Amino acid sequence: MLLRLLILMTCGAVSSAQATPDLPEIGRSIFTDPTLSNPPGQSCATCHSPNHAFADPRRVSPGANPTLKGTRNAPSLMYAALIPPFAYEDILLPDGSEIWAWEGGLFQDGRAKDLFHQVSQPFFEVHEMNLKDKAELATKLQQTSYFPKTKSPEKATYLASRALVEFLKSPLFRPFDSPFDRYRAGDKTALNLSQKRGLEIYRTTAGCADCHFLEPQNWSQPLLSDFGYDNLGAPALGKKDPGLFAVTGDPADLGKFRAPSLRNVELTAPYLHNGSIKTLRGVLEFYNKRDLEPERWGVTDYPETVNHDDLGDLGLTDQEITDLLNFLHAFTDHSLKNKTTPFPIPPKNTPITESLKLKFPDYTHRLDPNFKTE
Ligand code: HEC
Ligand code: HEC
Repeated sequence: MLLRLLILMTCGAVSSAQATPDLPEIGRSIFTDPTLSNPPGQSCATCHSPNHAFADPRRVSPGANPTLKGTRNAPSLMYAALIPPFAYEDILLPDGSEIWAWEGGLFQDGRAKDLFHQVSQPFFEVHEMNLKDKAELATKLQQTSYFPKTKSPEKATYLASRALVEFLKSPLFRPFDSPFDRYRAGDKTALNLSQKRGLEIYRTTAGCADCHFLEPQNWSQPLLSDFGYDNLGAPALGKKDPGLFAVTGDPADLGKFRAPSLRNVELTAPYLHNGSIKTLRGVLEFYNKRDLEPERWGVTDYPETVNHDDLGDLGLTDQEITDLLNFLHAFTDHSLKNKTTPFPIPPKNTPITESLKLKFPDYTHRLDPNFKTE
């Protein structure tokens, strides 16, 4: 008891000398701070809009310097902190055979191994926030009211990245409060009849569940993705985008992108990595008849690696497409539909980050001696 008291007292003394920064709060401030870009005017929220499940409704986002644009559609950041790290995985197929495949990672081509490696990059991308280096970021952070004082550009960038990760892990990004979640929890009225038919089609004839998993994998609730890589044959737009090939150098990976979570997909138009398909019904028609209507969809960047086994000619009727579409709408979180500004408010019973700390894919960062939050 005495020993415990002593430890408490010592810890107290240390933490009052250098107060532990409130990382999620700092991350939240950075996320919406338009002074951090060059020229000022752009924050993370400019391209990851809270009104669109933190995706960008524009096909590609103009940078802070508006003459520079990226080539990919900014994806939703909902559930992004739950995406597993980039890895080459041994997968057991239902017939007992084994295959090896790339999985997980951040960015649609997996080039950031995890969220921590992702979040520091937008600051320095010329077609995004366009900062020269860590020193420029550190100077800008020191001019804000919310960022802890530090002279080292290394430390400031490290802290900003950790803060963004902790913010993206917070409950508002993982509410799991969609009709689909209520249905799974036993409320059979959460889906209407058309949606129930859509669920069956999704699981069976359409094969969606083979990649956008309905069962939990690396998290206690399903994330609606296997986080595997595939070339769907998206309509080409501009310069060819090699996708996963840029990371692995394997020609078999040309044009492959990571399967996204379908949570809140109703809110994240336009679709596919290049934003080439404007509506969700369009995506379903593409899956259903891509190979039957080549003139409708036009050419694709890498025809040689397109997946013809699982999609392209699903044989679904218009009614089945409608049912499937209605079912995809059941993936929309209630807290995003009834959004209050600036950020959505998750259900009260959403577990706090601390209680899940060993479940997040980034937990190994706690082994990093630079990362002290407790
Ligand atoms: C100019 C628009 C723009 C800005 C500003 C921006 N992003 Fe992004 N973000 C994108 C685009 C586009 C992608 C997809 C790029 C890719 O896959 O290659 C992306 C991808 C991501 C991803 C990966 C998601 C996934 O599913 O792989 C995360 C996380 C992310 N951004 C967080 C941030 C944070 C945090 C900030 C602020 C520091 C930020 N972004 C600023 C456009 C932007
Ligand atoms: C073989 C694996 C696989 C199957 C089967 C599959 N998908 Fe996908 N899905 C992907 C991949 C990979 C992407 C990303 C492709 C890209 O961006 O180029 C994707 C993207 C999507 C998108 C776009 C999401 C966004 O935010 O842009 C939707 C919607 C979608 N899938 C729905 C479905 C539905 C509905 C089915 C069943 C009809 C289905 N998928 C079957 C792998 C698959």
